[in-house]
Amino acid sequence: MTKSIQPGKLAGQGVVPSHIAIIMDGNGRWAKSRMLPRVFGHKKGVDALRETVRACSDLGVSYLTVFAFSSENWRRPPDEVGFLMNLFLQVLTGEIKRLNRHNVRLRLIGDRCRFPQELAAKIDMAESATAGNTGLTLTIAADYGGRWDILDATHRLLADHPEKSATFGEDDLVPYLAMSYAPEPELFIRTGGEQRTSNFLLWQLAYTELYFSDLAWPDFDRKALEQAIAWYLGRERRFGQISEQLRSSETTC
Ligand code: IPE
Ligand code: IPE
Ligand code: MG
Repeated sequence: MTKSIQPGKLAGQGVVPSHIAIIMDGNGRWAKSRMLPRVFGHKKGVDALRETVRACSDLGVSYLTVFAFSSENWRRPPDEVGFLMNLFLQVLTGEIKRLNRHNVRLRLIGDRCRFPQELAAKIDMAESATAGNTGLTLTIAADYGGRWDILDATHRLLADHPEKSATFGEDDLVPYLAMSYAPEPELFIRTGGEQRTSNFLLWQLAYTELYFSDLAWPDFDRKALEQAIAWYLGRERRFGQISEQLRSSETTC
């Protein structure tokens, strides 16, 4: 059984992660296994997201980043893509008040150019309506791909600093990445049973702990989140070093 985790409290060897990134996968299969059209799974997935946002706020997580639509998801059947665009629009419209009530700041990362105009305008509106909130930052990755992110950052860096084309390093590039406002995720969760990153946050996940759940996203809940965090708290993050080095720096600091 999972121990219940208190906000920001030390448990095991670490604190609750400040940034959790989630691939919300398995919606279609959740619906199919119930003889329902795939899109019912996407609708139900919104409830799971609401519960996860709430749980992250309660646990003192600072950043929650969720993959809602990848650069590659445009390849899906047009009626599913159309349904998802409408769902985004509806959810953004319906949730702004709730986000404000819970002090949640909303951000979107991804290439916005391909969204229907009404949706793009709603995203801008939702971001500015929640910009002053100081609690959890909820980032929705939509029309997002890790390769796009790295290329986009490189293009913008070189447009600003052509003189650095042969010399730029990580510190020059990182401020141009889509998530430059957040620390790198300590914990990555993918639901739905697949064990791959599917082009999510490729740069930022370099040293993230990877957790895979067989639950379909619509079945993911607070208990499942706490289980993932409890697993994370048992990991030793070595960043290339060896255990003994970590222990000696713990005693000298
Ligand atoms: C994730 O669920 C949601 C999106 C990619 C939009 P899927 O739709 O990929 O569900 P499965 O993986 O087909 O079950
Ligand atoms: C990844 O899921 C993208 C999102 C959850 C938004 P996919 O279902 O699209 O990933 P693949 O195609 O199985 O790798
Ligand atoms: Mg999938």
